[in-house]
Amino acid sequence: MRGICKTFATDSVQTLALRDLDLTIYEGEYVSVSGPSGCGKSTLLTLMGLLDTPSSGQYLIDGVNAHQLSLSEAAAIRAEKIGFVFQSFNLIDELTVFDNVALPLRYHRQSFSRSYIKERVEHCLAKVELSHRAGHKPNQLSGGQQQRVAIARALVAEPAILLVDEPTGNLDSTNGDAVMDMLSQLNDEGSTICLVTHDPRYAGMAKTRLKLKDGQISTPHNVSAQVREPAYD
Ligand SMILES: Nc1ncnc2c1ncn2[C@@H]1O[C@H](COP(=O)(O)OP(=O)(O)O)[C@@H](O)[C@H]1O
Ligand SMILES: [Mg+2]
Repeated sequence: MRGICKTFATDSVQTLALRDLDLTIYEGEYVSVSGPSGCGKSTLLTLMGLLDTPSSGQYLIDGVNAHQLSLSEAAAIRAEKIGFVFQSFNLIDELTVFDNVALPLRYHRQSFSRSYIKERVEHCLAKVELSHRAGHKPNQLSGGQQQRVAIARALVAEPAILLVDEPTGNLDSTNGDAVMDMLSQLNDEGSTICLVTHDPRYAGMAKTRLKLKDGQISTPHNVSAQVREPAYD
């Protein structure tokens, strides 16, 4: 991201949520962005995930320029390159765990064979240690298990990056810690992760720790994410 601004305008107020923000995340990194409630963390993740567009600035994701994508192009890139994990697990109660995790592959631009889908879903459920719950419905699982299903679903289409927004917000500390350990393990195995959280303890688990302040990234504990410049045309 280069020079990203995001303004929200309602009838009476204008909020400048992000102002001239620069951020580079490299393949294999685990970056946390922390800051107090309302500082723009979710807005940033929403832009990174192509769920909304910036007011100005430049954004490249995995080599694709996000500028002026049509809605359907953005949806396709979202499905292929991005895995989302939110505070609310957003699972579909009527579907089994297996079918929830399979969903991104069944709605993918590419069509996958049943055997490939089965293999990928089983692989991802094993990663989050829930192979034995494949046939359950989400409401038969604990909150921590439901969040791990959401992580498996986010991983199933082999995204370029996992975007994670306050993943422990609905969990007690034991389940929250387990989910955070899982993210560290996934990064060790190669997943690229951007975590946003207001919780300094969890932010500290990422390898690169950035702060969002006044709509900009400030005080990197590890400056590697900022000093290496990608080639922008
Ligand atoms: N859709 C929206 N319309 C108007 N204002 C918004 C909208 N989304 C976020 N904001 C405002 O932008 C700022 C940043 O919000 P947000 O990104 O949700 O913060 P955080 O996730 O760090 O708590 C806040 O002042 C919020 O009220
Ligand atoms: Mg938020």
